[in-house]
Amino acid sequence: MEKRDAISGGNHAALWHGRFKEGPDADAVAFETSIHVDERMAFDDISGSKAHVAMLGESGIIPFEEATLIIKTLEEISQDLKDEKLKIDYSAEDIHSFIEGTLTDRIGEAGKKVHTGRSRNDQIALDERLYLRHAIPTLQNKIITLIETLTCIAKNHKSSLMSGYTHMQRAQPVTLAHHLCAWCWMLTRDNDRLSDALKRIDFSPLGAGALAGTGLPLNRELVAEKLGFSGVTQNSLDTVSDRDYCIEFTSAFSLLMTHLSRFCEEVVLWSTEEFKFINLSEKWSTGSSIMPQKKNPDFAELIRGRTGKVYGDLIALLTMMKGLPLSYNRDMQEDKESLFDAYDTVSSCLTIFTKMIGTASWNTDRMFASCIGGFANATDVADYLVRKGMPFRTAHGVAAKAVRMGIESNCNIEDLSIQQLKECSELIEDDIFSMITPEACVNVRTVTGGPSEKSVENQIVALTNYCNEFSRK
Ligand code: ARG
Repeated sequence: MEKRDAISGGNHAALWHGRFKEGPDADAVAFETSIHVDERMAFDDISGSKAHVAMLGESGIIPFEEATLIIKTLEEISQDLKDEKLKIDYSAEDIHSFIEGTLTDRIGEAGKKVHTGRSRNDQIALDERLYLRHAIPTLQNKIITLIETLTCIAKNHKSSLMSGYTHMQRAQPVTLAHHLCAWCWMLTRDNDRLSDALKRIDFSPLGAGALAGTGLPLNRELVAEKLGFSGVTQNSLDTVSDRDYCIEFTSAFSLLMTHLSRFCEEVVLWSTEEFKFINLSEKWSTGSSIMPQKKNPDFAELIRGRTGKVYGDLIALLTMMKGLPLSYNRDMQEDKESLFDAYDTVSSCLTIFTKMIGTASWNTDRMFASCIGGFANATDVADYLVRKGMPFRTAHGVAAKAVRMGIESNCNIEDLSIQQLKECSELIEDDIFSMITPEACVNVRTVTGGPSEKSVENQIVALTNYCNEFSRK
């Protein structure tokens, strides 16, 4: 008993204490423990142990009655944790040690059989997969809610004209609905990437042991089946040294954050006095301690800022793995801090962004004003001439001449007289004026994926179906 306490520094001896005469230095313990990070996988750890022990009992590797007792006790531990009757002991080395120690405290010798044919190396690989298997769909639901929020706004703004930009210069008119749908499609790809990465963790690692599998007659497939995996991993060395999934998910998170960050940049820009396209709700704005007039888009800025943290997590993971020989190395314990930080950041950013954008109001007059001036209809002048048989390159030159005239007379193309326009090309007639209004420029673009009301309606239907299909699964 004395030795146990000395070695663990807490309620339970380190699982590996037997080989050591001396306990570790207190600073050493503090440095190597991971329970503060891995405690969030407590219930996954218990689920994994239950399946493992059920298999041990059914395969006759441990007595069936003992397996039943272990499973029952694990369920009680799980319930007690939920009810907060059992508190995590932060002096335990990791969550695996805590659960196994608690089990052994409760049922003695039988509890010591839970780790038969298992190592913490395959156990942690399992816990992470089980955790991601429920955490990722939770995050995906947030992506779906954001898409739904945006399509809901889009529905009301199918004819709210605004300028589209390239190089941050006014380019051609689009609608707010079209613009918002653009962000939605990015989010569908983010969501698909997560679904895709989930497929690659759908294999049970248990049975890989520390690195070389086990000589005990484990039924790996049975454990996989009990845990709802589609199969088992195929190489024990690969299994315990694989952290591809941490990198894949964090990479998908990074790209998702890129999208949110870019969108936030627009929100910041659009909230300026200069643009004034969007008016953020006071609930989702902040003020200044010195400038009484200020209403700042801090939430958009914070999301943009936190993107860097997620990229940092990705780089930390990639760098942590790049020099590791096979198989398990303790470096890999560091995976969870980065993965969970990235996950938590993305998760909160999605929630906050959805609330911020969902409560904003849109200044359609200002948006419409951005379509006028800037010669955003010049391409449509060229297209007008193309319809009359002129080669596009020639038509481009004619429209450019009209633009030059406009610049010189300080007016828009539509303000030029028909005589002036005819100087550019004889093919131009009075009907041009109705064809180069912002509405006409948008509604003529009926091509799939275009900004016309009809095309955007189709996009909204497709996005709604996408969300419904995902939610049905
Ligand atoms: N806490 C460890 C991790 O997260 C679990 C595996 C420990 N294995 C070991 N051999 N020390 O990677």
